[in-house]
Amino acid sequence: MMAIVSPSLLAADFLHLEKDIEMINKSGADWLHLDIMDGMFVPNISFGFSVLDAIAKVLDKPMDVHYMTMRPEDYIERTAKLGAKSMNVHIEACGERLPDIIRRIHTAGMKAAVTISPDTPVEAVRPYINDVEMVLVMSVYPGFGGQKFIEATIGRIHALRNMISECGSKALIEVDGGVGASTAPRLVKAGCDALVSGSYIFKADNPIEVIDSLKQLTL
Ligand code: DX5
Ligand code: ZN
Repeated sequence: MMAIVSPSLLAADFLHLEKDIEMINKSGADWLHLDIMDGMFVPNISFGFSVLDAIAKVLDKPMDVHYMTMRPEDYIERTAKLGAKSMNVHIEACGERLPDIIRRIHTAGMKAAVTISPDTPVEAVRPYINDVEMVLVMSVYPGFGGQKFIEATIGRIHALRNMISECGSKALIEVDGGVGASTAPRLVKAGCDALVSGSYIFKADNPIEVIDSLKQLTL
């Protein structure tokens, strides 16, 4: 199976977003990854619904929305209204509210992904592994694009892949942060289904070719 590629818009040219969305529409990208930050869960603020609404009007690809916010549940209905495919929420932000949040994301008609930051043990997702469609593994500390890939992520992906097969779960594994030429092939070998990539794609001379090269990766 080919890798699923989800370019992260955080690395796009925000003065010319329409141009970048058109590139994504023309490309072989499977999804578009959208990073929402609240300046509380992470020490940065990205963009909100005025930008998401504008993007939704021109985008042809499914939206893969990554909430780096303390209370993602406050935005479930608005995210569903955008037509988003999936809502990725952090286990560190949701705590014991997570089961209810997963249920509400499903009721709103979206796929649910539980997301783990680099310091959260992979075992933390075990209780939810049969309830979510995806696990998003952060390979950098969330908050900023263009950071260096954390090598320990490879071992974490292996462990998660084993857990998923042990539990008979159908959850996909998506990885986010520092995904590029040297890390992507190793991540796919370790068992990643979906690759989020920001700077490697958007800062390239030919982003469409870069997206294709990522898609070509197979286990
Ligand atoms: C980081 C975001 C990522 C980021 C990845 O907090 O969640 O999606 O945009 O950017 P790169 O690929 O540049 O590391
Ligand atoms: Zn992200």
